Amino acid sequence: MNRQEFHFEYEVYDSMDELTEEDAWLLDEAREVTQNAYAPYSKFKVGAAAKLLNGEVVKGSNQENASFPAGLCAERVLLSSASSLFPKVGIETMAISYDNANGESGQPISPCGICRQSLKEFETRTNHSIRIILGGMHGKVFVIPNADFLLPLSFTGEDLRR
Ligand code: THU
Repeated sequence: MNRQEFHFEYEVYDSMDELTEEDAWLLDEAREVTQNAYAPYSKFKVGAAAKLLNGEVVKGSNQENASFPAGLCAERVLLSSASSLFPKVGIETMAISYDNANGESGQPISPCGICRQSLKEFETRTNHSIRIILGGMHGKVFVIPNADFLLPLSFTGEDLRR
């Protein structure tokens, strides 16, 4: 028997004011696009904005459905549109924000499990890691250097080929 360890570091900022101009701009884009969410059921509007390696910016927001499982998270809406508009182009940085009509929006939220799986595969197929900025409408901001860190021991296409 031997023990393995998983460990990662991320940055914590007290507010958006401490970010670089470019990161602050992207987080603002994510905040703004929360307003394009269709979230009549949860009232939890999520926005994501990504800077691609070709310089383009792609955004997404969550799109819910009366049949709840048919709903889509902001991150996966963004990944699908990035991949459809600019196939094979990697993402340099993605900012994720939210506006919660039922409560506070002052703490960063982190992508759900399904989105982590999608982020991971997007990184693999574009051969580029995705830097993630997480922040609410105000308050602390987290910067995670690589989306891959959020899903250790993940299931991948490699497993299907073994
Ligand atoms: N949601 C996202 O869009 N991204 C996340 O990372 C977490 C959750 C959405 C899904 C649903 O429309 C609403 O937030 C409440 O779960």
